[in-house]
Amino acid sequence: MARDKQSNQFIIVHLSDIHFGDGHIFLPDKTTSGEHANELVPDLLQSISTDLASMEQKYNNVLLAITGDLTLGGADGEFTAARTFIEGLAKQKVFGAQITLDKVFVVPGNHDVRFKEKEHEAFWKGYYNFHRDLYGSAPGRELQKADVERFCKVHNFADELGLIVLELATCHHNHRETIDLQRGFIDQQDLMYVETQLKQIDAKAAKNAVKIALLHHHPVLIPAFAEPGRNYDAVVNSGLLLNLLNDFGFHLILHGHKHNPHSFIYDATCGWYKNNGAPMLVVAGGSAGSEALPDATGNSYNLINIRHNFEANETRVQVKTRGLFRRDELNRPLLRPKWYWKNIKVIDRVLSPELGWQYGKVNRRNFNDTDKEREELRSDEYKRLRQNMPVVEVVPSLRPDQEFEARMRLVGHRHRKELPTQVTWSAGDKFTIARCLREENNDFRNTFSFYGPMLIQVSMLFEDGKEEHSYIYADEHR
Ligand SMILES: [Fe+2]
Ligand SMILES: [Fe+2]
Repeated sequence: MARDKQSNQFIIVHLSDIHFGDGHIFLPDKTTSGEHANELVPDLLQSISTDLASMEQKYNNVLLAITGDLTLGGADGEFTAARTFIEGLAKQKVFGAQITLDKVFVVPGNHDVRFKEKEHEAFWKGYYNFHRDLYGSAPGRELQKADVERFCKVHNFADELGLIVLELATCHHNHRETIDLQRGFIDQQDLMYVETQLKQIDAKAAKNAVKIALLHHHPVLIPAFAEPGRNYDAVVNSGLLLNLLNDFGFHLILHGHKHNPHSFIYDATCGWYKNNGAPMLVVAGGSAGSEALPDATGNSYNLINIRHNFEANETRVQVKTRGLFRRDELNRPLLRPKWYWKNIKVIDRVLSPELGWQYGKVNRRNFNDTDKEREELRSDEYKRLRQNMPVVEVVPSLRPDQEFEARMRLVGHRHRKELPTQVTWSAGDKFTIARCLREENNDFRNTFSFYGPMLIQVSMLFEDGKEEHSYIYADEHR
């Protein structure tokens, strides 16, 4: 029986700070004449494509998000390299799906504007031409005068895809020798524009959609990035932006700038303000292609899997940061064709609003002799299971064909003396039977992905050959 859709899911290939131009790490070596040799070496496109081709999972919706600093200095040739790279990725299948240009989202970084130029048009010229040449007159991508001034857009695919993407430019005021060169700046005019656009989206479609914001600079400066002499180095008006995004239930904020991949949950609340919605995950992309890197780091990019279960009002986000390895295990440099990417960190978070526990009416009295018989049954249950108690946690599933993931394991109640030798988890004929052996998996972890609530049976086989059964019910809502 077909079931109503309860969730939206996207895979996002998130790159930042590629910095095409001098200092881009995939350039061929320079010869003695100072020119780059005409070597046939993998460029960033080939390198990332090879890495992406190794991903076997299949998903319906794959997005490409690039959070600024495509170039080193906003030169035309650098933008051409950026466009060639994006067009190259948009030609291939990633995770079994085509990243068409309508699923490519880009924001400018401080290196993408010509900050020596005073005139608005000259300041934005390189990025404007890049944007025009990349998207042409694709629907929703043609540049209006207002867009040219802002490079700030709400892309509403709430009805057809269950997706809303906000692109924000934070470098309007990146003029030379100003503090905003470091911090970035969000116009209040832009925020008004964004609010107006978001309010025009049907409220139910907006609630169900995955909502992602892209900007280049840091919306929140984390302590590890604080540098002397730069004041508070996060984008001007970030507080106003975060309030706005939180009001509209944004899930994910992607950015770049400091070439250091970090992520954290933004869940700040003020005692004076009403708390709005769920926490947001802020993901800073590292640099995918610059040789300018913080100490003890390398180049990286992110693969993000986001699943928004709108009925349950829970969102699961998994961020895999793929680091570029340019040395062998003896720390010797590898030839460029042997450079490879691998996971350096995987985080897996569930975002849900703080609703507080709803208290129902309960009539209470003290424990008395009449309760002893019932208490014996409870103690007997501990004994029967030899202090091995099954527990379950339910989160949104990252499997596209299922909604929820039940995570089961056995925990030992106090003074447990004996673990089963094997545990079997089953949940009816639609599920495989999962058997966990003590020597391989000593808390007998298993997961089932499922649609509706279900009863899970756990069967524990002990050393003496006796088998005990118990049951837990996995519900889709917390
Ligand atoms: Fe950068
Ligand atoms: Fe930057």
